[in-house]
Amino acid sequence: MKKVRIDKFLADFGLGSRKEVRKYLKQERVTVNDQLVKTPSFHVHPHQDVVKVDDTVIHYKDNVYYMFNKPAGYITATTDESMPTVMEFFTEEPYFSKLFPVGRLDIDTEGLLIITTDGQLAHRLAHPKWEIEKEYYAVVKGDISDIDFSRFEKEGILLKKDKYRTKPFKVKVLSTSPEKSEILITVTEGKYHIVKKIMEELGHSVLYLKRVRIGPLKLDEKLQLGEFRELTEEELKKLKEAVNL
Ligand code: URA
Repeated sequence: MKKVRIDKFLADFGLGSRKEVRKYLKQERVTVNDQLVKTPSFHVHPHQDVVKVDDTVIHYKDNVYYMFNKPAGYITATTDESMPTVMEFFTEEPYFSKLFPVGRLDIDTEGLLIITTDGQLAHRLAHPKWEIEKEYYAVVKGDISDIDFSRFEKEGILLKKDKYRTKPFKVKVLSTSPEKSEILITVTEGKYHIVKKIMEELGHSVLYLKRVRIGPLKLDEKLQLGEFRELTEEELKKLKEAVNL
């Protein structure tokens, strides 16, 4: 990895804007390998040099990866003029300015969202070529016990309004009653409103939707809505393997 300017290094880490971090340099709060550094254009080697601000080591990471349990009421975007976004939960995290959500969950959908700085991984996870499974827990209106879901595993379903045939998908029925039914539905595409559209085509609108898995990555049940944690090394390894990285 090539050397970077110290002001960029500190700003990327999330210590403030370039202008703000220059103040730290001026205030003599930054050392590199225990030598005081005051020049913003000073270059550091992110993996080799020991950079400290007020004696705290700034541990550089090429990329960061979070598992987030998205609550309803937040849109999946980095910025929005009128609605709160999922990024509001991450403002205090290192590399905040480089973080973004992978794929999209609707404003009223809850559950597993990956937030990362890794553009290559994000691109592959979203690319149809890798057919990454996305599993959702859904509560739908009405009794679905007379639907034979097995044929959709081969041929998908034609969404008449969209004139679009979905990719094959799987449904496991968890419970049924005249009022509502619970299912696990697994799709491999990221088309807008895909689960809601599939269920509407079958005459059962979605009342509640939560993503519980992306490929090998399962939502950690210990995470409350609005909570996040970094992916473990094992989780990241499996996720990367799923898209040949
Ligand atoms: N399908 C939907 O309809 N909504 C989501 O948020 C995700 C998948």
